[in-house]
Amino acid sequence: MTDAHAIDSLGWERRTFVPSDAFRSNALVSDHSLYEEASQDFTAFWAKQASELVSWSKDWHTASEWNLPFAKWFVGGELNVSYNCLDRHVLAGKGDKVAFHFEGEPGDTRTVTYAQLLDETQRFANVLKGLGVVKGDRVNIYMPMIPEAAIAMLACARIGAAHSVVFGGFSAISLTDRINDAEAKVLITADGGWRRGEIFPLKHTADEALLGTPTITDVVVVRRGGNEVTMQDGRDHWYHELMAQADPVCPAEPMDSEQLLFLLYTSGTTGRPKGIMHTSGGYLTQAAFTHKYVFDLHADTDVYWCTADVGWITGHTYIVYGPLANGATQVMYEGVPNFPGNDRMWQIVEKYGVTLFYTAPTAIRTFMKWGDHEPAKHDLSSLRLLGSVGEPINPEAWMWYHEHIGGSTCPIVDTWWQTETGAIMISPLPGVTTTKPGSATFGLPGIGTELVDESGEHVERGGGYLTLTQPWPAMLRGIWGDPDRYRETYWSRFSGRYFAGDGAKLDDDGYLWLLGRVDDVMNVSGHRISTTEVESALVSHPSVAEAAVVGALDATTGQAIIAYVTLRGGFEGDEQALRNHVAVEIGSIAKPKAIYFTPDLPKTRSGKIMRRLLRDVAEGRNLGDTSTLADASVVNELQRRAAEAPAED
Ligand code: PRX
Repeated sequence: MTDAHAIDSLGWERRTFVPSDAFRSNALVSDHSLYEEASQDFTAFWAKQASELVSWSKDWHTASEWNLPFAKWFVGGELNVSYNCLDRHVLAGKGDKVAFHFEGEPGDTRTVTYAQLLDETQRFANVLKGLGVVKGDRVNIYMPMIPEAAIAMLACARIGAAHSVVFGGFSAISLTDRINDAEAKVLITADGGWRRGEIFPLKHTADEALLGTPTITDVVVVRRGGNEVTMQDGRDHWYHELMAQADPVCPAEPMDSEQLLFLLYTSGTTGRPKGIMHTSGGYLTQAAFTHKYVFDLHADTDVYWCTADVGWITGHTYIVYGPLANGATQVMYEGVPNFPGNDRMWQIVEKYGVTLFYTAPTAIRTFMKWGDHEPAKHDLSSLRLLGSVGEPINPEAWMWYHEHIGGSTCPIVDTWWQTETGAIMISPLPGVTTTKPGSATFGLPGIGTELVDESGEHVERGGGYLTLTQPWPAMLRGIWGDPDRYRETYWSRFSGRYFAGDGAKLDDDGYLWLLGRVDDVMNVSGHRISTTEVESALVSHPSVAEAAVVGALDATTGQAIIAYVTLRGGFEGDEQALRNHVAVEIGSIAKPKAIYFTPDLPKTRSGKIMRRLLRDVAEGRNLGDTSTLADASVVNELQRRAAEAPAED
């Protein structure tokens, strides 16, 4: 688990950026009062946020109950999450306010107001009821980035069914596994969606997945791509046909604060993906709080755009729940950033006058590669704040973002959090915090962070393991169906604390610098992929005897997946076939960038594969001590070949 490289030192970055007077004078927060208030009593602080930002149909009696590692927030309280995201805005006279400026990849657009979103959500909630979905059921969603994805999620929330969204880029097998783990009743999908000028046939993949999902009784298909699909009689229904017949009224039913809102599957170090459980009241409170204060949201004037997909936690919290709870106007974009040209994102920013823009370092590095002239083609002066999420942002990318996108005036919020934390945990507050390029700065008000060393001792300065010291409202409530794994995975490494799996470093001013994962989880383009999962996928190919997978530093994607494969006797190594096999087993995002065939893998004498050495090889470092290897010649040979043939796409 421990790995010296996880806490390698970075060269210190000395540049600092103080919030400008212009930004501060209009910022929601421009002093330290929130931090001070939260440090007095974090539970009371969150309780205040819950009353201010969320509408409750019944007050809670206890703000927080903490039986480590199980938390409850706003106990006894009742609310409806979809009411908070929709009805209350319409009731306040904001029905005509735009919720989504939807931009399809081919260039088609749709404007969805809060009143329309509420109307569609109510109808679709009735559709789900009509299909027999009741409170407590699970519903799977496998969709392109279209407004119906948000509608499906909100409709589930309205009736107390938990959604489990599976990213549209995942394979049929991944979808099957997730549906089966959640024992979902209904699947909501689309015929297809647009990606790089072509249709990706979601329904077709879903059909394959549905061959092995006995719990699914009904499938609802949104027409988006217009591609041919096969509809199975009795099981498959067109969304538009069901909606045309649906009762338009579905009152929002009050739910317990701890009602399961959703499951979202994420990779862990071992075994199959974990269904991370998030509940209602606490999650919504922190989603709304962070979205409002980290992005300095002025809901009446801002146009917010988060480029994530709803299939990831960023899409859940910062496209659906946070922004809608706050009544924001946002852009939702379906496609890739380079269709039809490399300036698509900037064209969209200009077109809609985007003021707040939230994306990932991997995207920023790609934009850098495409050149300064792409953003320069457009007027980006509407932007007033930029955000980053998903992986450490290197100072160079931070500076480029600052200069070429932010016109050297926008504050940048580098936000650290995870699927499990549910919402942002470490980030600047843009009107308060002096930023340093590459540092996520400090824990937000109400969040307890501490760096510790190997033995759990406090680290004042320098490198260590990032832990969270106190419960927080949006924290995961567990792993679906596996409370022991929950305790073991997050709460056992350092007693009494949550260990996030990340290494970090504290500089002399107490700023936090995230240094990446210290376990066997890779971070590819901001998405977590476990080495074990890719290895299992490789080994499931008939030609493979054994596989070891590592994440090697990559200039664009953060880490790239490099696989070392030992073949079964009589088989030829076919790199392309294996890459495709991984795409089928998991999804294209998990395709190794390079595969090296080797007669043997470097192992300790006890037979453990030494991934650290393989990472050294992949990153072209000199090898340290190889004396614990059973056969040192294996790794020397791999190193020689890596030097000859640098990993290329
Ligand atoms: O390693 C950290 C990295 O992404 C992991 C969480 O991945 P996931 O659950 O997929 O959620 C990504 C979006 C919230 C973390 O353990 N990570 C996320 N944000 C940052 C980051 N690493 C450094 N800096 C960040 N701002």
